[in-house]
Amino acid sequence: TVYSVLVLILAYLFGSIPTAVWIGQAFYGIDVREYGSGNAGATNTFRVLGKQAGIPVMLIDILKGWTATNLAYLLGTSTIGHHNSVAFINYQLALGIAAVMGHLFPVFAGFRGGKGVATLFGMVLAINLHAALLCVLVFIVVLLVSKYVSLSSIIAGFTYLAGVTVIFPVYIKSVVIYSMCICVLILVTHQKNIERLLKGKESKVNLFKSKVA
Ligand code: G3P
Repeated sequence: TVYSVLVLILAYLFGSIPTAVWIGQAFYGIDVREYGSGNAGATNTFRVLGKQAGIPVMLIDILKGWTATNLAYLLGTSTIGHHNSVAFINYQLALGIAAVMGHLFPVFAGFRGGKGVATLFGMVLAINLHAALLCVLVFIVVLLVSKYVSLSSIIAGFTYLAGVTVIFPVYIKSVVIYSMCICVLILVTHQKNIERLLKGKESKVNLFKSKVA
């Protein structure tokens, strides 16, 4: 219906909110895309501006993905079917993907956004809490051990696939396909990071230090 398409556009617009760019510009007068990895995401904001900026960007980006995925629910669209129906979950997937596309290609920031990890996490949180918490756990462990956010993101993506297929199996084909797409998407958005990781040139994060550009 026209209404469902409008809600999808709204989800894309939500995802398009370029949190990293706007917080950097508003409070520090810089565009984080000109520094560090050049990515408009929480990690690069943390890297360039420190945790006072990085943490809010991360939380807002997660909230963006969560809100967009739950838009149909929040707006009370009952036309799609019951909340637990496959049709409803499929629509939630579409809304979440629209938000992730917004984050990657934000209409409010010249279509140059981030890698979508926090937004994807918000989406996963809305769809499958158990798998989401497992991803957080794995992400934190890999981060503490390796100090590479990119590697942690990639492994967390594959953890989600393992989560919905074998650990907390979700017997909905679209969710399984979606989790496979997440793995591919994360590999695609992290191509440069993978190259740097292989060359040993990826930057590590110092979680306990906060530097300001
Ligand atoms: O959230 C994106 C992260 O996995 C990598 O970011 O800035 O190190 O390329 P960055």
